[in-house]
Amino acid sequence: MKKVLAAVTVSLLAASAAAQSKQLEIFSWWAGDEGPALEALVKLYKAKYPAVDVQNATVTGGSGVNARAVLKTRMLGGDPPDSFQVHAGQELTGTWVAAGRMDDLSALYKEQGWNKVFPKGLLDLISTNGKPWVVPVNVHRSNVMWYNPAKLREWGITPPKTWDQFFATCKTLQAKGITPLEVGENWTQQHLWESVALGTLGPADYLNLWNRKLKFNSPKAIKVWENFGKVLACTNTDASGLSWQQAIDKVVSGEAAFNIMGDWAAGYLSTTLKLEAGTGFGYVASPGTNGTFIMLADAFGLPKGVKNKTEVTNWLRLLGSKAGQDAFNPLKGSISPRNDSDLSKYSKYSQSAARDFRTNKIVGSLVHGAAANETFMSNFATVMEIYLSTKSATKAANAAEAIATQSNLGK
Ligand code: GAL
Repeated sequence: MKKVLAAVTVSLLAASAAAQSKQLEIFSWWAGDEGPALEALVKLYKAKYPAVDVQNATVTGGSGVNARAVLKTRMLGGDPPDSFQVHAGQELTGTWVAAGRMDDLSALYKEQGWNKVFPKGLLDLISTNGKPWVVPVNVHRSNVMWYNPAKLREWGITPPKTWDQFFATCKTLQAKGITPLEVGENWTQQHLWESVALGTLGPADYLNLWNRKLKFNSPKAIKVWENFGKVLACTNTDASGLSWQQAIDKVVSGEAAFNIMGDWAAGYLSTTLKLEAGTGFGYVASPGTNGTFIMLADAFGLPKGVKNKTEVTNWLRLLGSKAGQDAFNPLKGSISPRNDSDLSKYSKYSQSAARDFRTNKIVGSLVHGAAANETFMSNFATVMEIYLSTKSATKAANAAEAIATQSNLGK
């Protein structure tokens, strides 16, 4: 009898250990100030699946500059995270899908009815041959200019609508000893570049850069770098040492007037700094881009061969659900791409972004994975270095054209 009891106890213990050992590793760059939205989602997951040990694995560094390198090493080393953050677009399809490393999510999309709730443009970015590979958790806007309304009033300045207006405002602000536009480390300057490119070229030629109808060293595209140089002359000199949050901080404190950043800045301003959209912080489309929305989306999928497939699938179900998206996005500063999202839960800024997303012309972000393949995107950092060290529009334009050819951009 004793023996039988002991055997039963042992097997019960083993069963509970197995139940305990259910795991889910979520890999992203949403650390520190970028963390609250993901943490809210993880909390919902834990409430639904208390037996699962969730590891929220983050690698700090805005726009995934460091996380993407770690991810590459893990994927190549046969140690994929259960689910990882990736941008909708070629960052996903041109790398992990092309290499056959992702599971097809068609069945899950069918089960959840997602083909009907996500916009077609976004479904196209996350699918190849009609098969969806990830679940988008948000839509962010890249071309937003942020400011402190009280400071602008104090200085007698209104947000410039075009780059020419900006250059005039730049002079006024510099005469007062205020930095007109704050920038940070390399990727944030590339981020600024895409807004300058759109504002200089307009949406049709901006798109023509990515489909290769407009050469990067054509006179029109060289003009983008010339404008970019004029814009940089209106920025701070300590850019390389600043994170995107530190650049925003300077706008909040009134040391700088404007910052151009994606609307994760709205998340930081409202969730972390507790400022109110419209009064505590102001926002407007970056100069010359009103009516166009540079979009990007963060997404998660199911890598091939992971151990915790059921846990990942449940994670994806939550991530794509209305409840999951409406818990995550109001904290993140992004909007839900779902057509049934409850906008009453969102800030005044996000409500305006949701309106613009429905009515504006939509184009993709370079820096955040949507417009170009990953080789072009990562080599563009070098193009930026070339520009910053030579200040030559032609040299940068030629370098961009060379990497476009080498990386088969637009193919
Ligand atoms: C983007 C990402 C955003 C935000 C931002 C700053 O690439 O899509 O969700 O995290 O980087 O790190």
